[in-house]
Amino acid sequence: MDINRNKKEETSENTPIPQDNRLSQRAEELLQKLTLEEKIGMIHGAQLFQTAGVARLGIPPLKMSDGPMGVRQEFLPSQWKPVGNQDDYVTYLPCNSAVASTWNRKIAYDIGSVLGEEARGRGKDVILGPGVNIKRSPLCGRNFEYFSEDPYLTGELAAAYIQGVQLWDVAACVKHFAANNQETERLWTEVEIDEEALREIYFPAFYDAVKKGGVHTIMGAYNKLYGEHCCQSEYLLNQILRKEWGFDGVVISDWGGVHDTNAAANSQLDIEMSVTNDFDDYFMARPLLKKIKAGEIREETVNQKVKRILILMQKLHMPGVDTSGIPRKSGAYNTPGHRKKALEAARESIVLLKNEAHMLPLKPEKQKRILLIGENARALHANGGGSAEIKALYEISPLMGLKTRIGGNSEVAFAQGYCRDTQEPQDAQESNWQEKSLENGGGTQQNTQNQKTQPDSPASLSKKREKLREEAVKLAAEYDTVIFIGGLDHTYDSEGNDRADMKLPYEQDLLIQQLLEAKKDLIIVMIVGSPVEMGSWIAQADTVVWSYYAGMEGGSALADVLLGLVNPSGKLPETFYKSHLDCSAHSVGEFAGKKSVAYREGVYVGYRYMDKYGVEPQFCFGHGLSYTTFAYTDAKLDFEEKLIGYMLENTGEYDGSEVIQVYVRRAGSRIYQELIRFEKIFVKAGQRVPVCISLEHMNRGDAYCIGSSSKDIRLTINS
Ligand code: BGC
Repeated sequence: MDINRNKKEETSENTPIPQDNRLSQRAEELLQKLTLEEKIGMIHGAQLFQTAGVARLGIPPLKMSDGPMGVRQEFLPSQWKPVGNQDDYVTYLPCNSAVASTWNRKIAYDIGSVLGEEARGRGKDVILGPGVNIKRSPLCGRNFEYFSEDPYLTGELAAAYIQGVQLWDVAACVKHFAANNQETERLWTEVEIDEEALREIYFPAFYDAVKKGGVHTIMGAYNKLYGEHCCQSEYLLNQILRKEWGFDGVVISDWGGVHDTNAAANSQLDIEMSVTNDFDDYFMARPLLKKIKAGEIREETVNQKVKRILILMQKLHMPGVDTSGIPRKSGAYNTPGHRKKALEAARESIVLLKNEAHMLPLKPEKQKRILLIGENARALHANGGGSAEIKALYEISPLMGLKTRIGGNSEVAFAQGYCRDTQEPQDAQESNWQEKSLENGGGTQQNTQNQKTQPDSPASLSKKREKLREEAVKLAAEYDTVIFIGGLDHTYDSEGNDRADMKLPYEQDLLIQQLLEAKKDLIIVMIVGSPVEMGSWIAQADTVVWSYYAGMEGGSALADVLLGLVNPSGKLPETFYKSHLDCSAHSVGEFAGKKSVAYREGVYVGYRYMDKYGVEPQFCFGHGLSYTTFAYTDAKLDFEEKLIGYMLENTGEYDGSEVIQVYVRRAGSRIYQELIRFEKIFVKAGQRVPVCISLEHMNRGDAYCIGSSSKDIRLTINS
C-alpha cells in the first residue's frame, strides 16, 4: 500500500461543508431562524438514541440505532430498558467477520442494503455501523463486529456495505475512528502508535468508507490518541478527517466518548451522545450554551455542526428539512427477501479449514444416523455481544438446520457434550451493562461481564462436564457420522470484554481429544466470533469447518455446506495464530494495557508480521478450501495497460467459487507482501475461465503473486 495514499489530498484549509449549493442554502436558511438553544438541542442526545428536533420549524430529531448485525430493539427514551414491543423483531444478519469471510463485495452490499432497508422500516435515520476497526489481536472482544486484519479487505467490503445501507435514505455510521482495537479500559486507554502505522493499517478502511463508500456519518472512538480523546481530537477530526480527507458529513461521538466542552466544541465533532440520561448536562448541552453566552466559545462552532446536520437531513430526504421534492424511500423489515440475503451471505461465509479424508460433503443416503455433539449445535447467539445484540425474528441453530434438511430418512441425534459456566441465557431484556459502562472504566479482560448469574463452582462444573463428556464419547461409537459443534459464544465475543487467551472454554479441548480417539473421522465445526487455539487436537482432526456467527439462517447455511448443497467458498479474513502469543500485538507490542498500549509492532499486523518473521500460523490469512479444486495457469502481465491475466480451471467434480487473491511483493519494501486485489469467481466443474485483473499502479521490479491464500501462491509474475 502506498503509505502516502491518504495524505494531504485536500488542499483547502477551510472546514469542508458540502458544496451542493441547494443543500447548503437551505441549511443556511434554517440556521438563520434557529435560536442558540435550538441549535444546541440538535448537537447532543436528547434521548439515548436521538437528538432534539425543532418542531416549530418542522426539523425532525435525528434517530439512531445500533448496530451492525441488524436493527437493535427499541429502548425507552431515557433508560437502558427495552420497550418490550412485539414489533421490533428483525432480520439477524451475519456478523461483519462472517461478511468478510465471503470476500464478496456483492454480499457486503446486499447485507448493507438489508440493514438500511430495515433501519428505514424501523423509522431510523442513522444506523450505527459498520465497525471497521482492524483486528490487531485475536483477543479483542468486539472482533466479531469487525471485518479483518487487512486494511484493503476491510475497506473494500465496508465501502460496498455502506453503499448498500445508504441506498435507503439512511446514513451508515462507520465506527470507531480510530485505533480502537481493545475493550479493556476502552474509555481511557491511550494508544501509543506511530503515524506511519496509523496511515498504513488503521486509517485506510475509514478513508475508503469516506472516499469509496461515501459514508454520511462517522463515530469517534472511546480511546485516546496522541493525548486526546478520539471523539474530540483535533488531530483525528480536524486535521485528518476534515482537512486531509475532506469529509463533510456528520461526526457522532461514541456513547460517553466526550470529556470536555471546549475540546468537543472546537473539534469537528458534530453530535455528542452518551449513556446517561442527564441530557441537558452533556458537555455539548448546557455547559456549551453557557460558554457561548460568556463569549468563551464562538457560536460559529455550533453553526457549522448544525449546518452539517441539516445537510445530512436533506441528503436523507427527511421531510421538514428537505425541499428537493424527492420523497424519502420507505423501508421494510423481516421480508422473505431479507431472510434470503441473510442465508446467501451465511452460506458464502463458511470456511472449510480441513477436509483431508474427504468426509465432506456428507452423503445422507449412506449416513443414516448422525450425531451432533456440543452446546453450540443448539445454542442461539443473536441476543448478545453488547450493542450488536439482536432481537431476531428467529435463529436456526445447526441442529435445527440439519434436521430441517434431512429429517425423516436420517436420524439426527444430539448430545450436549459440554456445558457453559452458567446455563442462564444471555438476557438482553434485563441487561443494563451499557448504562454502567461509564462506571467500570469501560472494559475488562476477565470474560465475566456478561455472566448474569454466579457460575456454578469450578468443582461442580468439572464434574458435570466429565459426565457430559462420558455420555457423548460413549454415544459417538454408536453413530455413523459424528459432528462436534462447539466454539465460543457472546460470553467471550463481546463488547466491553477482551478474552484472556484463545483457549476454547468449557473443557472443549478435552472433549474433542476424547471424541477423536473414539471416532477418528469426527467432523469438527466451530461457531465463533474469533479464532481459538486448536493445537491439542488439530493434527488428529481430518475435518474442520469454521463459521463466524452467521445470523438467523446460520444453521441452515451450515447444513447446506455439510450436505454439499452449497460448495464452501469462504476464506479467512484474519490469521489464525497457534496462540495469541504469536500475534505481534502480544509478542512485540502490548495489548490490554490499562493506561496506555504501545503498538510497537507498527505496521506488522496479522500476516504482515507472520510473513516477515517467518512465524507459522495455524491457518493463514486467506485460507479456505472447497469441495472442488482449482488450477491456475498461463499467467500474463501487460505493464503498459497495468493488467494481469491468467486461466482459472475448476479441475474437480463440483461447481464452485474461488476467491482469487493478488498480493504484491514490492521491490525494496520492508513488507513481504500485501493484498492488493481479490475477486470471487464462479467456475463450473471442468470449465476454464480467463481472469483479468486491472491494477491502479504497477511498478517495475514488483512481483505479483496470485494465490488461493496468502501462503498458497500459485502464480508469480514479475513486472
Ligand atoms: C458502542 C458503540 C455503540 C454505542 C451505542 C457504545 O458502547 O461502543 O459501538 O454504537 O454504544 O449503543
